[in-house]
Amino acid sequence: MESTLESHDVARKTTMADTEFVKTGNNLLLKLHALMRISRTYDSKNVALVQFIQESLKMINSFIEREGSFSLKIVRDDLYINQQRLRYSVEGFNSFKYLLTQWKKRFIGEVIFKEPVDERMLRAFIYTLVDLEEGQEENATLFNQKLQQEGISAVQVNPLEQFEGEDGVHTVRKGDLKDVAKKIFFETIGTVKEVVTQIRGDQHADVRKLKRLAQKMIHIMMEDESILLGLTTIKNYDEYTYNHSVNVSIYALAIGRRLGFSRETLTELGLTALFHDMGKSKIPIEVLNKPGALDEKEWALMKKHPMAGVETVLNLKQLGEINPKMVIGIFDHHLKYNLTGYPNLYHKKETSLFGRILQIVDAYDAMTTPRVYKKTPYTLEQTLAIMQKESGIHFDPILLKVFVNLVGVFPIGSLVLLDSGDVGIVYKAHPDPKWIDRPQVVLFGKDGTEEGKTFVDLSETDSDGHYKWSIIKTLDPNQYHINVAKYFCA
Ligand SMILES: [Fe+2]
Ligand SMILES: [Fe+2]
Repeated sequence: MESTLESHDVARKTTMADTEFVKTGNNLLLKLHALMRISRTYDSKNVALVQFIQESLKMINSFIEREGSFSLKIVRDDLYINQQRLRYSVEGFNSFKYLLTQWKKRFIGEVIFKEPVDERMLRAFIYTLVDLEEGQEENATLFNQKLQQEGISAVQVNPLEQFEGEDGVHTVRKGDLKDVAKKIFFETIGTVKEVVTQIRGDQHADVRKLKRLAQKMIHIMMEDESILLGLTTIKNYDEYTYNHSVNVSIYALAIGRRLGFSRETLTELGLTALFHDMGKSKIPIEVLNKPGALDEKEWALMKKHPMAGVETVLNLKQLGEINPKMVIGIFDHHLKYNLTGYPNLYHKKETSLFGRILQIVDAYDAMTTPRVYKKTPYTLEQTLAIMQKESGIHFDPILLKVFVNLVGVFPIGSLVLLDSGDVGIVYKAHPDPKWIDRPQVVLFGKDGTEEGKTFVDLSETDSDGHYKWSIIKTLDPNQYHINVAKYFCA
């Protein structure tokens, strides 16, 4: 432990501004991650590696020159650079996870570069690191010995510190990814709003920003689908249209992922979903927010929104970001699977794949959200039951199956009563589809407080092989005045 104390003396707090620190820190992680990966695959004379080492050296050394030293340390599931916790970016998440996992497996807790290094030192460091045997507690000592043999005094390695209550060494704290997801979720809602306002005012609308956000959502979805799905339970009543577009996009992406779409197709799908109701910007607010039923004239206006949406995207200055698949998807989103929806068609055509996906997720989100004309929405269970009845009519039966499988028999956000008498919220679907009816549930504390909440996995059995908990029935959160979204935002 002596060496760890020393490290605190060597390192000092960075003087960089917050955003710059996040950027520089994440760049350093990316470099170290790539170095570890490349050196595991290529031998040391490889040209790609030589160039990469040069670039990394430049970055590490300029950091050391500026800050006096460079220390990267693991504390529980966080990474600290020069004693400052690193908040990683979406792009940096993979590197973050990789370093954390690989270092923990090797019981390496901290690396300190006390002064600038040269190419030989960096190579020796990286190759020694990747050659360490996993699971050896004395790795840090061996590492330092090896560095000494090589005459390298600029680099020092410290062992991993174990903390009480730490289970398993390969976990990454999901909390951080959740923070990133939340930020992107709200940023996307804000950007959709911005774009709609720009379109209303005939101003230049920034499509590329929305595209980048869609890509970030995909990135998060690849890491953990349940985080974004959980955020769709927020259902912001005031910002309905914008919030709705983002939710629709999250559900659509989740279906697209199950269908094995490439990242490029997913981006197109996500953007189509974000744009699907853009045509509503041409409809008067009084009609959109009318509490009662629409009269014939108002309905006729409403039915124009898919076509108005098509016109809107075709008029975008950055039309290069839009392709026919996306335009047709917007056109089709109320057409229904059997073509009995709107707009009216003069010639029969097939509904497009994007259109069929949107029909499902659009209806699902609309039915589960409180609206001016329906203050108490359907529960998730009621919604799925209604949708099943429309299978083959309103909805593509196969895609509907994919969707039901995705949200589960008990969708994320369902309020459930367990046979133990506890009430909880479905928090995450079981990763194995075989346990579709046995999701993970967060139970309220006995006194109903946040602090007492516990997480249970319904697939767990006791020593006799009996399930520890089972769902007896779902409850209507509106009746119990429970704000489900709170559990996904905390
Ligand atoms: Fe619509
Ligand atoms: Fe919609």
